[in-house]
Amino acid sequence: MRTIKFSLLIAIGSLFASCESNTYADIFGYVENPTYEANIKPLMNAQCVSCHSTNGTESGSPLETYQEVVDYAESISCRLDGVSCGVMPQTGKLPQVQIDMFNAWVAQGLVQQ
Ligand code: HEC
Repeated sequence: MRTIKFSLLIAIGSLFASCESNTYADIFGYVENPTYEANIKPLMNAQCVSCHSTNGTESGSPLETYQEVVDYAESISCRLDGVSCGVMPQTGKLPQVQIDMFNAWVAQGLVQQ
């Protein structure tokens, strides 16, 4: 009986451990020196491009390329913050760590690679 409980505990434990290593926060967690290619582009693709693309509903404000995201950088910061601009994504604010990452990228001069 004790062995069963113990292995059950291990099974549950490893379940949590394996989930944890794949969370969204891990993929887009805190990054000290974010670049467009490594960090910003994947974030835009995951959260924004479904609408903000040539084939999306917001084709007038595409966020698919480096230049497009640079052009909208100030507006994106305002949207992510969602206080003085309508929040984006519309489903609700991103985790703060991702907003911080975007703002750090802007502050550090919009590094591409
Ligand atoms: C489900 C569709 C959808 C998604 C996903 C989405 N947006 Fe939007 N976005 C809109 C719509 C609709 C508008 C226009 C209405 C408004 O201004 O709120 C808009 C407007 C904007 C604008 C202003 C564009 C302009 O012409 O000035 C920016 C910037 C923006 N979104 C950024 C983002 C960012 C950044 C993300 C991802 C974090 C995102 N959006 C995700 C639908 C979306």
